[in-house]
Amino acid sequence: MTNKYIYFIANWKMFGNLRTLNSLNKVISFVKKFNKNKLKLIYCPPTTLISPLKDKLKLTSIDIGAQNCHESDVYGANTGQVNSKMLKSVGAKYVIIGHSENRQLGENNHLINLKIKSSIKSGLKIIFCIGESLSQKKKGTTKKILLQQITQGLKNIKNKKNIFIAYEPIWAIGSGLIPRDSEIFEIVKFIKHKVKGSKVLYGGSVSLKNINVLKKINNVDGFLVGGASQNSKNFIDIIKKTFN
Ligand code: PGA
Repeated sequence: MTNKYIYFIANWKMFGNLRTLNSLNKVISFVKKFNKNKLKLIYCPPTTLISPLKDKLKLTSIDIGAQNCHESDVYGANTGQVNSKMLKSVGAKYVIIGHSENRQLGENNHLINLKIKSSIKSGLKIIFCIGESLSQKKKGTTKKILLQQITQGLKNIKNKKNIFIAYEPIWAIGSGLIPRDSEIFEIVKFIKHKVKGSKVLYGGSVSLKNINVLKKINNVDGFLVGGASQNSKNFIDIIKKTFN
């Protein structure tokens, strides 16, 4: 994996405040010394931090992503919502769509499809999350579920060049568990076969403990990192280990 371009996406979820951004100074100096042709780093902070983070990262190669958006790209009476156009206007280049934590709140494949379409229209790149639950895995229906998520989530979307697919088994998120490396390889192969030319990331409990195994899965294009991205030193160590 070390000879190609690797994406690292930090998903901060509902964590972080203005003070937390200071911890990124370490990451900024680390990235400046790093080979730009090998690493693409993207931070997805909560919406409140996108704009201040944009200022902080302006002289760096680090990009910013949002964690979700409303499905409509027009302004409207939607209290508490933010759309893709608004996110783009404050500096987001990417947006995570279909994260299982939002699917669990009722986001279905149809809504995800609308969100992806509106984000494409606004010029954002999409990190499209898919993944099976533990009971689906046990029943042996993982591929069927993933295919449903892909087919319905990407329905009527011709140009998929700005869509990254993040394979995140629900049972692996925040649990410390990961699938076997052979399973990840097989699933990533399956996704790449179904969505030709796609970049596929792995997410779910990526950590300093398992990155040595994960980095050897040679069809994976990068990682979506939740908990382990919140501590800058830990995150830098994960990245360093990936390239060692
Ligand atoms: P985790 O989260 O790394 O804490 O498991 C990943 C994610 O939810 O994107």
